[in-house]
Amino acid sequence: MSITRLAFPTDIHFGAGARKLVGTHLLAQGCRRALVVTDRALGALPLLAEFRSHLGGLDVAVFDGVSGNPSCAQVMAGAAACKAHGADCVIGLGGGAALDVAKVVGLLATHEGDVLEYVWDHPQVRPIVHALPYFVALPTTAGTGSEVGRSAVVSENDTHRKRTVFSPKILARAVFADPTLTLGLPHAVTAATGMDALTHNIESYLSPAYHPLCDGIALEGLRIGARALAVAVAEPGNLAARADMMMCSMMGAVAFQKDLGSVHACAHALGAVCDMHHGLANALMIDTVLAWNHEAVPAKFDELAHVAGVGGGGEFVGWLRQLKQRIGIGGGLASRGVTREMVARLVPLAAHDVTSATNPRAATEADYERLFVQAM
Ligand SMILES: NC(=O)c1ccc[n+]([C@@H]2O[C@H](COP(=O)([O-])OP(=O)(O)OC[C@H]3O[C@@H](n4cnc5c(N)ncnc54)[C@H](O)[C@@H]3O)[C@@H](O)[C@H]2O)c1
Ligand SMILES: [Zn+2]
Repeated sequence: MSITRLAFPTDIHFGAGARKLVGTHLLAQGCRRALVVTDRALGALPLLAEFRSHLGGLDVAVFDGVSGNPSCAQVMAGAAACKAHGADCVIGLGGGAALDVAKVVGLLATHEGDVLEYVWDHPQVRPIVHALPYFVALPTTAGTGSEVGRSAVVSENDTHRKRTVFSPKILARAVFADPTLTLGLPHAVTAATGMDALTHNIESYLSPAYHPLCDGIALEGLRIGARALAVAVAEPGNLAARADMMMCSMMGAVAFQKDLGSVHACAHALGAVCDMHHGLANALMIDTVLAWNHEAVPAKFDELAHVAGVGGGGEFVGWLRQLKQRIGIGGGLASRGVTREMVARLVPLAAHDVTSATNPRAATEADYERLFVQAM
């Protein structure tokens, strides 16, 4: 029997109003100078000003230079802002994009080199040796669960290839998960990010890695998300559904310590080649990939269907397709601007993506080509 390491380390303050606790928490840690890292659109919303009103006692600066699939250049600009402010703490406020940048801004403000020299598969990856600014995270979407994850996904400036910094040292020291922050999410963002959260729970459960604790979390995360996602989309102001989706999102990200699968391999490729939103990319691929995976692990599909409340494993993919319709994600890749010509570039990226290794069915380049074409 091999030795497995199991860890659930994040301190999470969960519930409506949790955002108001951040200032007191940081002051109690001895922090005085805070850099808020957020994205450009959020920076212009009243949400940011309201959040800042609860940070009395701290000297606050804002870096709102995050947008789209965040680039390495955005991280380096954030690190410069962190140094310029002399920040002793970083507050990540936003969706996965802002939180991923926030996770590594403190790293690059205190360490030499470019963010790409810290990605896990760099041949001479630089070690994280200095203390990092105290980092807290507040998600404003319910999808990536980046607030509880140990990775930061950033795109290369020129190729847009997604690269990952992976280290327990970049984990948030505390998460303030306040579902009221998601009440104003636009319909399409609620739908796409919610599908990302569901995909994390589903793919981590299907991953063959040994982690029964995460399997339990993934199944419960799916149960919660399955009942809440359509409600959150139909009734944006429904706090209970928003809270369920925020919990589903965090559970999915905790569960994917045991890794993901080919839906994410395809989504990462679509992000790189088409600059597609990550959650939407998962949503467009999930039914096609899972229908193909089914025969490899039928008993696990029975379990997924049971948890989602839809009878047998053979009906699970059909249920996902109906859910996509209900939340307004219709059409295939072609309807979102993906062309047949792009498939040749998507296939090798998906096949070499690290998440492909933990798909329950081994996927070759030929398999990925078929899957992308089917999903068109
Ligand atoms: N670190 C991880 O483990 C991990 C996992 C999955 C994805 N990711 C990364 O996360 C990113 C995607 O994150 P995302 O899906 O949360 O999307 P996002 O962060 O790109 O946000 C999507 C849009 O929603 C807007 N928005 C966010 N919160 C809002 C609010 N409360 N009200 C109104 N608008 C709001 C943003 O301005 C943005 O335009 C990608 O870069 C992806 O690579 C990271
Ligand atoms: Zn994802």
